[in-house]
Amino acid sequence: MKIDILTLFPEMFSKVFEESIIKRAQEKELVEIRVINFRDFSKDPHQKVDDTPYGGGHGMVLACQPIFDCIESIRTKDSKVIMLTPDGTLYKQSLAYSLSKEKHLILLCGHYEGFDERIRSICDYEISIGDYVLTGGEYPAMILADSIIRLLPGAIEEESHLQDSFNNQLLDYPSYTKPRNFRGMEVPEVLVSGDHKKIDEFRKQMSYNRTKKRRPDLLQK
Ligand code: ADE
Repeated sequence: MKIDILTLFPEMFSKVFEESIIKRAQEKELVEIRVINFRDFSKDPHQKVDDTPYGGGHGMVLACQPIFDCIESIRTKDSKVIMLTPDGTLYKQSLAYSLSKEKHLILLCGHYEGFDERIRSICDYEISIGDYVLTGGEYPAMILADSIIRLLPGAIEEESHLQDSFNNQLLDYPSYTKPRNFRGMEVPEVLVSGDHKKIDEFRKQMSYNRTKKRRPDLLQK
């Protein structure tokens, strides 16, 4: 998979993909990540990328020209263009799964007041990572990239994401490691019983209880 990130702040990405699973996924050539400054595509003499909104109002709006030119220079028939925006569709694990099957993702990060509405016409998806407004799409792009790359075959053991929270509409079950007793807090007896059928049942029940308490909306689906 190829992931291109279009941003005005490429430096923000300089360290984030250089650790742990994401670093190894690049070393194993499961993914190639490029960070592109779309200001470089501006035809304005001062490399401007934004302007004041028609109709008045505060803030600046990202203009069409640099973003269209940038996307058109890198997109192929295999590309999916994703705009990160707080008014997009809410991001979910199910979408991470379907995006992990794509060959080329172009993640478009906004800043300032937002995008010229016409930029949406060259995007395949408009995605929000939650009901809050950030200063830009850079953190959302990192979150999408991370959640997608870990699903690429070979990035982590398949078993570990089969039991992730949100698979089967349930949150993950609680996990414990040594010691059995930490400051009076005991590991549930069943987990040291060696009875795998009982352990499975216990974990399913814990997943269900936790989901019911914290995210009843997931169970309604
Ligand atoms: N840009 C600003 N806030 C955002 C959000 N919540 N999701 C995606 N992109 C954003």
